[in-house]
Amino acid sequence: MAVTTAEHEKRAAAQAAAELVEDGMSVGLGTGTTVAYLVPALAARSLDVRCAVTSPRTEVLAREAGLRVERFSSLLHLDIAIDGADEVAPDGWLVKGGGGAHTREKLVASAADRFVVIVDSSKLVRALRPPVPLELVAFGLASTLRRLEAVGPVRRRDAGRSPDHGVICDYLGAVDDPQWLARTLRGVLGVVEHGLFPPEMVSEVIVGRGGRAERVHPGGGGW
Ligand code: A5P
Repeated sequence: MAVTTAEHEKRAAAQAAAELVEDGMSVGLGTGTTVAYLVPALAARSLDVRCAVTSPRTEVLAREAGLRVERFSSLLHLDIAIDGADEVAPDGWLVKGGGGAHTREKLVASAADRFVVIVDSSKLVRALRPPVPLELVAFGLASTLRRLEAVGPVRRRDAGRSPDHGVICDYLGAVDDPQWLARTLRGVLGVVEHGLFPPEMVSEVIVGRGGRAERVHPGGGGW
């Protein structure tokens, strides 16, 4: 099967990010198809690193690759976390959670000194657009969905629960003001977490373009 440009770009970004990891570091590993390139690239470096994973999928990949996986709660902080994204805006806002793992991804990214985002070039957007993933508490789901109606349309995703038993949904309304939307969604009782990641959380973005990887810093202007 032919490997697409996007796959080449994901691999290039992932390999560049793997090079940022140093011996002795604690490393947060995100979730998704781009991280699936990161895991073997990191394992190939044969470093002594301890990894916290953001999903059962990544845990399987990491263990199979021979990486040392530790319970996230046993690691006080992480030196670096590396993860993919669904959309990256020029001002550094991200949408994440296409795989429904955004709550754990945000927890792991927030614990890291440096959060590196790895994407193919199709993820660079002029402005964020829906869907914005949501994780909701299962208990009282109908009333949470009713409260969310005041913010905008939300659709339950046809997917299993999160590893923490949350229900994965997508907010489908406008994302014109990510800061306002992030604050508003966070304030709705029953919302565990949303997939908007603020620029302050992002240290750098590595984007694959063709077969090469380029490093861009959030807030640096347009793409
Ligand atoms: C997982 O829930 C997501 O946040 C992913 O990190 C994001 O969807 C990017 O995934 P891909 O690397 O598969 O595009």
